[in-house]
Amino acid sequence: MLKTFSAAAVLLGASLAAAAQPALVSYDSAAKTFRLDGGGASYVFGVNSRGELQQLYWGGRLGATDTFPQAAPLPEWASFDSSYNNTPQEYAGWGAGLFAEPALKVTFADGNRDLVLHYASHTVKANGFDVVLKDVKRKVAVTLHYSVDPESGILARWATIENGEALSVTVEQAAAAAWALPPAHYTLNYLTGRWAGEWTLNQEAVRQGARVIESRRGSTGHQANPWFAIAAGAAQEEQGEVWFGALAWSGSWRITVEQDQLDQVRVTGGFNPFDFGYVLHPGQTLETPIFYGGYSANGMGGASRLLHHFELAHVLPRTAATEGQPLPRPRPVIYNSWEATEFAVTEAGQMELAEKAAALGIDRFVMDDGWFGQRKDDHAGLGDWYVNKEKFPNGLKPLIDKVHALRMDFGLWVEPEMVNPNSDLYRKHPEWVLNFPQRPRTEQRNQMILNLARPDVRAYVLGFLDKLLTENDIAFLKWDYNRNWSEPGWDQLAPAEQKKVYVEFTRNLYAILAELRHRHPKVEIESCSGGGGRVDLGILRYTDEVWPSDNTDPFDRLTMQDGFTYAYTPQVMMAWVTDSPHWLNKRTTTLTYRMLSSMQGSLGIGANISKWSAEEAATAKTLIAAYHQVQPTIVQGDLYRLISPQDGSEFSATQTVRADKGQSVVFAFIHSTQEKRGFPRLKLKGLDPAAQYTISPIEGKALAGSPEAASGAWWMNHGLEMDADFRGDF
Ligand code: DGJ
Repeated sequence: MLKTFSAAAVLLGASLAAAAQPALVSYDSAAKTFRLDGGGASYVFGVNSRGELQQLYWGGRLGATDTFPQAAPLPEWASFDSSYNNTPQEYAGWGAGLFAEPALKVTFADGNRDLVLHYASHTVKANGFDVVLKDVKRKVAVTLHYSVDPESGILARWATIENGEALSVTVEQAAAAAWALPPAHYTLNYLTGRWAGEWTLNQEAVRQGARVIESRRGSTGHQANPWFAIAAGAAQEEQGEVWFGALAWSGSWRITVEQDQLDQVRVTGGFNPFDFGYVLHPGQTLETPIFYGGYSANGMGGASRLLHHFELAHVLPRTAATEGQPLPRPRPVIYNSWEATEFAVTEAGQMELAEKAAALGIDRFVMDDGWFGQRKDDHAGLGDWYVNKEKFPNGLKPLIDKVHALRMDFGLWVEPEMVNPNSDLYRKHPEWVLNFPQRPRTEQRNQMILNLARPDVRAYVLGFLDKLLTENDIAFLKWDYNRNWSEPGWDQLAPAEQKKVYVEFTRNLYAILAELRHRHPKVEIESCSGGGGRVDLGILRYTDEVWPSDNTDPFDRLTMQDGFTYAYTPQVMMAWVTDSPHWLNKRTTTLTYRMLSSMQGSLGIGANISKWSAEEAATAKTLIAAYHQVQPTIVQGDLYRLISPQDGSEFSATQTVRADKGQSVVFAFIHSTQEKRGFPRLKLKGLDPAAQYTISPIEGKALAGSPEAASGAWWMNHGLEMDADFRGDF
């Protein structure tokens, strides 16, 4: 067995967090400017002399008495770039010579495609505004919704488009919002990946032209994530200005970051206009997803801490147990059967795993794929959501009772939007899948996608899930989704209407999730899509956690987790400990290394624990108990990425600090020591300088180089010194 060269420690101390400033929302009627203040940020826009809604300021919080004059449109640039094109607008219609990315593009019934939106009216709300824009000639109105979070200053922006014409209007492009920044040198940060390789952080200079981050896949996608952060100058972890945003949408989406001919930067995001078309009949409206945006003066770390707290406090759903609580509860430590058994689940096999899991101190036992229909492998069964009688002759009850008797709750895997052609459901309803009539139907993983936009499919999916949860004492659903769209036809509708499948599918997904949570308020749900293919702030309003990747290699996970935490709180980041050597990279690591890697998020065990030795079980039990002690600090505290594992770094370290600064948890990892280089001294962050913090190592003797107790000032200025013996591989 390899020697363990990973370490974790807890520091204890005490003090109180500072109180947040109240949010302010004000309209200056003389200058026609709107201002939103929250946390350390201010956002200002106004009606310019032409009547357009013009962006004026987004950045650090301004003085309470500071005011802006009325917005002045930018001049034209020769005869090639009109004032309309140069002026950064809150929500520009495509018309009047706009070459920048439009927020809204429509075609009227008579073929006219010109749309110029001017301010019409507004209402002031508790924490925001609704501002109505109207086309200069025709009855198309857009209501821009703004609300600001008093604590973080994060803005929620979205739009409602209304057709007041006597004939239909086709919306070809609709953003939730456009953000603007003045000319400067910026670095764009965004996340990309692939199956088993999600959460790669990309950093590049913003240059003239456009960088498009998108999904055309019908769902969020592994390949890019709807989040961005733009840093002033080079991105730094704890210093400098950062503007960031995230789209709350789990369908096809697009974020366009463009620097125009005058070096101004605009970020426009919403529905992906690719293959998009939404017909609005007279009187109908289309509501866009929400585009959240925030500002931090404390670098990338500050930006992610704001987002983490905002997600916990304002995005994630509540169960019956946490309704009215300030934050949702930390995730139960789970056991999941997938890597142990794959599809070969049986009553006896799962019961054996449940016994082993309970002995480790696991809170929740989750049975993964394979329990339903004629499911023996991935060729059959999806769509037939009855319990497989060969595997579970007496239904799920004996297993669920056993799990409860072992003092765990029970979770179950489902993949509700999918169907195998080899299923009773498909034989009965071949017309229910996304497809174009008379065209081939592309399968991926031998499955097709049910058209959730159809009312009958929506009713079927809600119906079987409701029945499953009503008839069985299930605390948790792992909701999987293992392919992306192809042939997205919806032949029930007239040809011109069919493209609204991109909107209605996702809306129905959300509606089903919301209704299930309403009917079963104790049930918690995980969003999984073959790993991290459906992680965004839209799905996170209805799901309590996500599966970041099918790649559970603990070393790969360090980098993926680092990338993940730029956009999402560690609380939703499920992290299983699986077997070694790992199936993906054939890498061998110690159980302690694997445990500590996973303990940086919401811990789970996904190994074949039936085969574990007594020594392995004892190690896991000790570390699960230690994790339970400090879990709230890890998943809900302030996260500092002390040393990033990106770019093959020899070392990496993270630190989290509890809100009252009374506890902090530090993780440190070595990739491979070279030339006997010692681990860098870790200057901790976010502690109370005056409080005394005592070290309590979770694992290893790697802290012999540091005093047992010292002030926050010591740990932050002098730093935490590792033992000279803290060397080796993994
Ligand atoms: C993909 C998921 O990411 C895995 O964890 C597992 O649930 C499989 N699907 C089951 O088919």
